[in-house]
Amino acid sequence: MYTNVFDWEEIIVEGLAKIIIPRRELFIRPDGVYEPAWSPVFYNPLMEFNRSITVLVTTTYFNNKDFFFIEPLSGTGIRGIRLALESNGYGYINDVDPLSYYYMERNITLNNIREKLIPTINEANTFLNNFTFSGVIVDYIDIDPYGSPIPFIDSAIRPLGKNALIGITATDTGPLTCSHKQKTLRRYGVRCQKIDFGKELGLRILLYNIAFRAASNDVAVYPLISYQHKYYYRVFLKTVRSGNESYKIMDKCSGYIVYNLENLDRKFIKEPSEVIIGSNQKTLIIGPIWICSLGDSAFIKKVVNEGIKREYMSKEIIDFLEELARETDINQPYIRYDKLFGLHKKNMPSIHSFIELIRKHGYEAYRTHFDPRGIKTNAPIETLYEIISSF
Ligand SMILES: C[S@@+](CC[C@H](N)C(=O)[O-])C[C@H]1O[C@@H](n2cnc3c(N)ncnc32)[C@H](O)[C@@H]1O
Repeated sequence: MYTNVFDWEEIIVEGLAKIIIPRRELFIRPDGVYEPAWSPVFYNPLMEFNRSITVLVTTTYFNNKDFFFIEPLSGTGIRGIRLALESNGYGYINDVDPLSYYYMERNITLNNIREKLIPTINEANTFLNNFTFSGVIVDYIDIDPYGSPIPFIDSAIRPLGKNALIGITATDTGPLTCSHKQKTLRRYGVRCQKIDFGKELGLRILLYNIAFRAASNDVAVYPLISYQHKYYYRVFLKTVRSGNESYKIMDKCSGYIVYNLENLDRKFIKEPSEVIIGSNQKTLIIGPIWICSLGDSAFIKKVVNEGIKREYMSKEIIDFLEELARETDINQPYIRYDKLFGLHKKNMPSIHSFIELIRKHGYEAYRTHFDPRGIKTNAPIETLYEIISSF
């Protein structure tokens, strides 16, 4: 009876889960697109990609073993239900909205996983703090808010166990890519500038701020996978409870980017005082940001293998993860090849042939998921100029 579907509702299938939601056709914008924020309970089909990767990352990280998780901002419950059905998760799905609770309850019944999931109605920070103060240790926490995750980071870090995992979504791409500079400063503590590799800068601003908040709670974070997709950022971090390690990681991985606007050279530094600016050079120094690697390519390759095992995972997801695995080892912001050629007033070859030439010079070079015009390479700017001048 409880899982009866009313005529203003529909059942959708995502991964191995089925969920009841209000009919999407009732919440269509004038441009014909479904608007999840207008529905009384939030379900965004575009985030299936994000949730599928979450299933693969948690399965890989916990090595196909059971893990205890909290999803404090759950909406319909779809993410937590998929973790229970497709990964080895058990735990709590929670939302502050009573209507979300109503759908979580029905969707748990519909998927027959009552022994694995407990639905609750609480404010997310209060809920997470209750775990901290009652000493319940959590293996995985998923923060998937509207907009910025920053209001939830401190309370999400504290209940995590010794070697735990946290997954965080950020949809506030305006401040992260410096389109709203005042907000970037207020929310992330960074004085930034709009630049041509702004999509990667946004990820590095987000990671720095999470690492800083974690370190202030004596927790070190290690990015395993970080990416930008459509209109959001997503990061998965291994967390280790240790004041000493959290100091070491902040000391090593927080710094600044120095960007020379005249020749497009960019490099990471730890202190702004390391820069000696030439008299006629236009140089930007942006930070503090995360200057270490954005992930662990060996781990991402394992996630790819987990995805390949599952027939229902789309080729788009596997291809995307493979691309991430390739580019993640190059800890140098991507460079826009159209800008490089524009600077030298040369006709552009295809991006593939330019990448091949860089490799022939003995350097690594790959396309990047951030930008179709971007190249990730460890070649110095002088080598890139040498190659361009040969055209
Ligand atoms: C983006 S939606 C979550 C989507 C869901 N994680 C998924 O994958 O489909 C954010 C949810 O957070 C809930 N929410 C917003 N602020 C909250 C708070 N302070 N505490 C608990 N829930 C909150 C909203 O009701 C909404 O359902």
